[in-house]
Amino acid sequence: MTKKTVKTKLRPLVAGNWKMNGTGADMKQVRALVKTLSGNHRYACDTMICPPATLLSRLAALRTSLKASRKLALGGQDCHAAVSGAHTGDVSAEMLKEAGASAVIVGHSERRSDHGETDKQVKAKVEAAHRAGLTAIMCIGESLKQRKAGDTLKVVGKQLRGSLPDGCTASNTVIAYEPVWAIGSGLTPTVEQVAQVHLALRKALQRRFGEAGSTMRILYGGSVKPSNADELMAVPHVNGALVGGASLTARDFSGILAAYKA
Ligand code: PGA
Repeated sequence: MTKKTVKTKLRPLVAGNWKMNGTGADMKQVRALVKTLSGNHRYACDTMICPPATLLSRLAALRTSLKASRKLALGGQDCHAAVSGAHTGDVSAEMLKEAGASAVIVGHSERRSDHGETDKQVKAKVEAAHRAGLTAIMCIGESLKQRKAGDTLKVVGKQLRGSLPDGCTASNTVIAYEPVWAIGSGLTPTVEQVAQVHLALRKALQRRFGEAGSTMRILYGGSVKPSNADELMAVPHVNGALVGGASLTARDFSGILAAYKA
């Protein structure tokens, strides 16, 4: 069977969210990934790893030593809205930037549920990312209950409106649509369901941000793996993926990048 490669107008982004996984021992996965990115394969997408904050500067140094700074971007997984201050355990966008990040995930559903983050707080984090010169990867998504109630578009529309400040551009903001019930579950929406949400998000972005709304990338996330990446990445207005579990090994992550093999 010949492999279909996905072609889109916008340069896609495939970002790996390591969540609370990864110690020094896992740096070898990044070394292996860089080897793939530097090999004969050409991937027509941007590639990013968002490790735990403790690994950021080590991965940044590794990336420099492998001369791969342009091949592999690094991102944080969350940031505080303030630049600095009495916020024990938190990390600011400026700190992530200094450690080597060019982006930060904000509003991930695990932050929204584990830490009760609201759209308003997420919006402040997007602003913090912009202030620090980071790209905000802002996550939204419905629960299974909300999907079953037929409320998906209403829910994600509200999250999108409430979590984005004015002044978002294609270079400072990326949207990640991640149905909560698809995260880490092995379940994925049908391509029709993904297409419906991504089209609605595209239209909402265009209405609010004009031209910038047409070029802002909208990632799909939730149980993306090598076996379903081709299909999901081919959906209109899917401009890449936010990958959890399958980003932890270079083998699986490269298998997903292969959807964009040039
Ligand atoms: P998953 O996680 O790929 O393990 O489902 C995605 C995410 O939470 O970003």
